Amino acid sequence: MTELRAVDLGRITQMLGTSAKPVSILWQTPGSVAFVARGREHRSEFHVDPSDEVMYMLKGDMELHYLTDTGEERVVLIREGEILHCPAGTPHSPRFAPDAYVLVLERTRRPDEHDRFHWYCRACGARLYEAVRQVGDYREDPVSRVYEEFYGSESHRTCARCGDVMPAPSGEAPYIGGASGFSSG
Ligand SMILES: [Fe+2]
Repeated sequence: MTELRAVDLGRITQMLGTSAKPVSILWQTPGSVAFVARGREHRSEFHVDPSDEVMYMLKGDMELHYLTDTGEERVVLIREGEILHCPAGTPHSPRFAPDAYVLVLERTRRPDEHDRFHWYCRACGARLYEAVRQVGDYREDPVSRVYEEFYGSESHRTCARCGDVMPAPSGEAPYIGGASGFSSG
């Protein structure tokens, strides 16, 4: 049988703190995926995925924005040392600082399953854009990839209803990692 090995989460967060990468994959098997992510600035999208997610705050607090069944936006605070279960299909947006860290446990996606990423207009609340991904490999950092897609085109950020344009953050892709950068979940 395979040799079993424990993971030192303190060492992982320390390493992420000095890395350009926002996410460290602990394991990725046919049944489950586990990773530690640090907060990203400019996190604005709502992630809708087919897996339950378990979020445990290792360091710092998270404000998890989410949408109820009726589309109402709510915020739940997850403090350092607290754990939260986010049911599959719940649109959620993890907002936390680049020096805060979360452990996330999810179910590995099946080949026919898709993750959706939604942005909403800050002026009128209409949906701005939807990115859809088959998340086969977390090492590809799907969150960073959809941020490139969204911010890469002004038309993606322009509201069809009211014309408001969500500005792209200044600097070189600051929403993707970087020493002070960002995460998933
Ligand atoms: Fe709008």
